[in-house]
Amino acid sequence: MSDYVLRTATDGDLEQVARLRREAFADPGEFNPEGTYRTIFEPARTHLIEQDGQVVGVTGAFTRDLAIPGAVVPAAHVTGVSVSPVHTRKGLLTRLMQAQLTDAPEALAVLWASEGRIYPRFGYGLAAQNVTMRADRRDLRITAPPAPGTLRGGIPADLIKELSEVYSRVLPHKPGWSSRDEAWWKHLTADPETRREGGTKARAVLFENPDGVVDGFARYRIRPNWDDNGPKQEVNVIELVAATPAAYAELYRFLLRIDLSRSLVQGLTSADDPLFHLVDEPRQLGAKAGDGLWVRLTDVPRALTARRYAAPIDVVFELTDTLRPANAGRWRLRAGAGGALVTCQRADGDPDFELGISELSAVYLGGTRLGALHLAGRVREHRPGAVAATSTAFSWPVAPYSIEIF
Ligand SMILES: CC(C)(COP(=O)(O)OP(=O)(O)OC[C@H]1O[C@@H](n2cnc3c(N)ncnc32)[C@H](O)[C@@H]1OP(=O)(O)O)[C@@H](O)C(=O)NCCC(=O)NCCS
Repeated sequence: MSDYVLRTATDGDLEQVARLRREAFADPGEFNPEGTYRTIFEPARTHLIEQDGQVVGVTGAFTRDLAIPGAVVPAAHVTGVSVSPVHTRKGLLTRLMQAQLTDAPEALAVLWASEGRIYPRFGYGLAAQNVTMRADRRDLRITAPPAPGTLRGGIPADLIKELSEVYSRVLPHKPGWSSRDEAWWKHLTADPETRREGGTKARAVLFENPDGVVDGFARYRIRPNWDDNGPKQEVNVIELVAATPAAYAELYRFLLRIDLSRSLVQGLTSADDPLFHLVDEPRQLGAKAGDGLWVRLTDVPRALTARRYAAPIDVVFELTDTLRPANAGRWRLRAGAGGALVTCQRADGDPDFELGISELSAVYLGGTRLGALHLAGRVREHRPGAVAATSTAFSWPVAPYSIEIF
């Protein structure tokens, strides 16, 4: 390994980093140096390994906030993890992960995994399910009565002010969503041909309430499809953000009645998406659950005191964390009613249960239940009832999910 050099990236590394990423992910696209990726790339947060001047391994992070139960906190948004195919399984990722987790100033890191088996060894836990929907719109009706308001169409890139205003209003109530500054809005609404995958240019629809306030929007594309039997177009929902039940219902009512379409496809929703309760035939939503956001707590007391809890809690747990030993050991977590007075301090005495950092990270967003991990044999309970009480305290009224792949 002596010929591999680990260092932080500079601005000048962008091209090599992007090339390596395309190589590792077998992405046939060309690097466009004028594209918006340059505006979100953070060299100071990018660790890379080079050999003979060639970048052969990289992991990056975006500096963004993440909504968690009851708060919005800084979280390292890990991205673009890539090792050149001819250098894999030599420990490069391990070195990169160690450096990244050591240097991250935030109390937690989040990522989307290309393969679920890669990250648990580095302390990540599966914190949020991702649900995709593929609905036949002809078999679906919205049961809510029509709500007063107006729909307005447009191009997402022209509507950033409206979109960002609603998004910021909704974000604190959506564990798993990530903050977006102006550069991110421009990046997400840029609409290069390479992102369309055979669909039209992106469109936006806004829902304005009777007072003229924009209470929600959807970004979507239409994927054309005609055969001998006529039109079968697909409405591909990039994202739907609604601050009120009326906005939610009216935006879906619109998306489900677009002429010439047969199906509605949405890739990033949650297990308790309100749509399941708004249609007359939920099975026709064609929902499928898979893994979504992975979380890694890097500073356990800071992370645990940042979130709120659904019920009062007072437990002592024993934690293992070989990669970040400062997290390991015995902790006492206390939270009062309504999530007040949260403390997490070193503890003596017998632990109520034992678990690893991957398990604690998994339950952090309130999606994965500690009780389920206990049933899977991944938590050892010493005081009967402690896991159930902790499971309840860590749960949250809405399931977490990530609304975008970063
Ligand atoms: C995933 C990837 C970054 C791993 O890099 P790497 O340098 O080969 O990883 P390491 O050598 O440090 O492996 C560390 C451990 O993880 C295991 N591992 C790594 N990638 C794995 C994978 N895809 N599947 C199963 N195990 C994997 C290794 O076997 C090794 O285990 P061991 O210590 O028991 O021997 C690399 O294979 C890659 O770039 N893949 C394509 C792009 C991708 O999927 N990136 C991840 C994006 S989220």
